[in-house]
Formats: sequence, C-alpha cells, structure tokens
Amino acid sequence: MSGDARKTAEGLSYLTGFGNEHASEAVPGALPEGRNSPQRAPLGLYAEQLSGTAFTEPRAHNRRSWLYRIRPSAAHPAFTRTGNGAIRTAPFTETVPDPNRLRWNPLPEPAAGTDFLAGLWTLGGNGDATQRSGIAVHLYHANSSMQRVFSDADGELLIVPERGGLLLHTEFGRLHVEPAHVALIPRGVRFRVELLDESARGYVCENYGAPFQLPDLGPIGANGLANARDFRAPVAAYEDVEGPVEVVNKFCGNLWTATYDHSPLDVVAWHGNHVPYVYDLRRFNVIGTISYDHPDPSVFTVLTSPSDTPGLAGVDFVVFAPRWLVGEDTFRPPYFHRNVMSEYMGLIEGAYDAKAEGFVPGGGSLHNMMSAHGPDRETFDRASAAELRPQKIDDGLAFMFETRWPVTLTPQAAGADQLQQRYDDVWQGLQRHFRAR
Ligand SMILES: [Fe+2]
Repeated sequence: MSGDARKTAEGLSYLTGFGNEHASEAVPGALPEGRNSPQRAPLGLYAEQLSGTAFTEPRAHNRRSWLYRIRPSAAHPAFTRTGNGAIRTAPFTETVPDPNRLRWNPLPEPAAGTDFLAGLWTLGGNGDATQRSGIAVHLYHANSSMQRVFSDADGELLIVPERGGLLLHTEFGRLHVEPAHVALIPRGVRFRVELLDESARGYVCENYGAPFQLPDLGPIGANGLANARDFRAPVAAYEDVEGPVEVVNKFCGNLWTATYDHSPLDVVAWHGNHVPYVYDLRRFNVIGTISYDHPDPSVFTVLTSPSDTPGLAGVDFVVFAPRWLVGEDTFRPPYFHRNVMSEYMGLIEGAYDAKAEGFVPGGGSLHNMMSAHGPDRETFDRASAAELRPQKIDDGLAFMFETRWPVTLTPQAAGADQLQQRYDDVWQGLQRHFRAR
C-alpha cells in the first residue's frame, strides 16, 4: 500500500463495524510498513500502542491504536493534584437518588476565560469509574479556547454540542464539530478544544463502561439507523511544539496536572480502531411505523455501550431526529410510560414533540428508573384530537442518554437555580374521561 493510499480523509474514513483498522499519516512514509513496532520507526518517530480494551478481548470488541510520535507519552514529569472544578465522578453518593421527574434550564453564562474543561459541570451519574461501569452526565458552557491539553482515563467522552462550533485537536488529528454533530473522544486520548464561536454549550456523556458501538440491526437488515460510513475519523495532524504545555489527566475522579516540555499532540501517523470520531446526527436513518403504534424508542439508538447482559446497555445514545409520522389510529407523540432504564434527555435545537413548553435547548430532564412520564396535558389533548394525516416532525433535535441504573445527582445539580420547581405541573389537569357506559 502506498503512503497516499493509507491516508484517510475526513468524510471518507468510516468505522465499519467498529472493528476495522484505520490509518493516517501527516507526512508520507511516517507509517511503518508491515510492522507495528519496527526496530527503528520511520522518520525517527517513536512507536507506541494505546489500548482501549484488554489485550485479549474478542476481536470484534478489541480496540487499540498504534501511534508514531515525536516523543513517547512516557516522557513526562510527575502529575500533581489540581482542583476538580465542577467535575464529579462515580460513585455518586452525595445525594439520595431521587424518584421525582426533574428538569433543568440551561447553565448560566460562565465567567470570562472559561475553557471547555473549566466549563464542565457534572449533573450526576451512576456506576463506579474505578470499576469501569456506569456513566456521568455533564454539561459544558465555555467562552475560551483551551490552551491546555486534557485526557480522561476514566472513560470515553461523547460530546453533544448545542451551541457553538468546536475544533477538537486530538492526538489523531483535528475534528470539526458543530451543533447537531456528536464527537467521541476515546478513553485516554489527549485533546484540547478550540472554540469556533464566542461561546460553546452542550452536553457530555462520560461512559466508564464498554466503548460505544453501533447497535445490532436484527430484522432491520444490513442498513439503517446510524450508518457506519458516516462516522468520520480525523486525518493525522501533529503539533511540533517545544515549550511548556499543561496537560491535565482525569484519573479515578480527580484531575492531575503536569507541565510537559513539548506538546503531547505530536503524533505524525497512526493506525488502529481506538480513534476519535464525529457523526452528523442529521444523517441518522430514522426507522418507524408505517402501519400503527410505535416501535419502542430503541429504534432511535445511534450508539450503544453493551453490558455483560445481552440487550442491556450500560448506556444508549438515542436521537429524536426529524421524521414522518403516519401511524393510523395511533397516539403519535411518545406514549405514557415507566421504564426500568433511566433517561436523561437534552435538546439540541427546536422543540420536542412530547412537551409544549419548558424543555428548552441547553436544558435537560431526568426521568429516573420507573418514574412515570410522557406527554404533558396540552400535548395529550392536542394529539388525542388530531386528524391523522401524514405529518412531518422537523422542528427539533432531542437526544437521550438512557442508562441501566438510576442517575444520582450531584449536590450542585440538586440545588441548582436552573432546576425547575414545578415540573410536575405539566402532568396536572389530565382529565378523567372514563365512563363505565
Ligand atoms: Fe421516557
């Protein structure tokens, strides 16, 4: 294979099956031929493996990449503890798990000079980061580009921008991410976030568990939902910077810092499948009924983090994308339900078809295990009386982190000014219509 053939191009690279190899080189010839760790790597580079799964995990789940870099990652001084800011990590034990339906307004404006890392604010989560299970739900609101570099040993980061474009400078290259895209930074991968607008706001699912993968499609067949070819990996790009660079490492819930004498974003070539990627949610192929009733919202799953129990996700990332509703004799908005899974929902743009008001872009709602929820009164009344013509739902983009365990709040989320005090009222006034003839 020639050097050119091994380059990937953003928009052309895809994570087929999430098991296949990808490769990219910023300088022709930087990627060694035929060996991962030759006696002397090309161009005087160091070879280094980054393992995202245990060495011996089955091939279909195994994640690792080989990096060819100016200096090995081992060349760094000791890390020392630094402040955790508003970031918290599982196990979440500071509040009692709350069975109430909860909803928040967006985060307030941050202080000037707040970068992505300083702007991370943990809402809650479950599991235990040291046991590599569960998730944290974070929001971010930033108004300054990161000068420092960050990596998270505790989990992968699924970034869901709601406002403001981001340029993610990663060890593997750059990813341009806009609202309605999602980006994934794998566990341990170093990156910094450059803001492309005055401010940036959004959501992050920190997944301590098994890496996100595409869901199986079953009878849907070989195509549909999120298509593998639409997941774009970066083209290799490196920083050849000598001089002090702060590197922050999140490890078992705490932030640790060290000042390197060079940029650690110095990977000139790479190959593997433990790589960052970006996905445009507008490419989601929405599956739904063409007769009556609803399929369960699992048909909206973009990515899933499997657990040891088949079909039971540690967390699913689910999107409610524009779609046609055509079901006959069907209550078309999301139905009333109680769910053994716990649901954190956010809104990227527009409105959500189960709520008339109060659920706004940048805000969020939490419906924990078995909490009863569904359409509000106004939506129920409208949808129950609607004439059932084919209808396009195209004025909103909502998403859900649906997780197997209840989400326990951080004290800052439980006591936040933006926590709505009267969310229960949206289900008040649902009238009794029963008549026993
Ligand atoms: Fe729900």
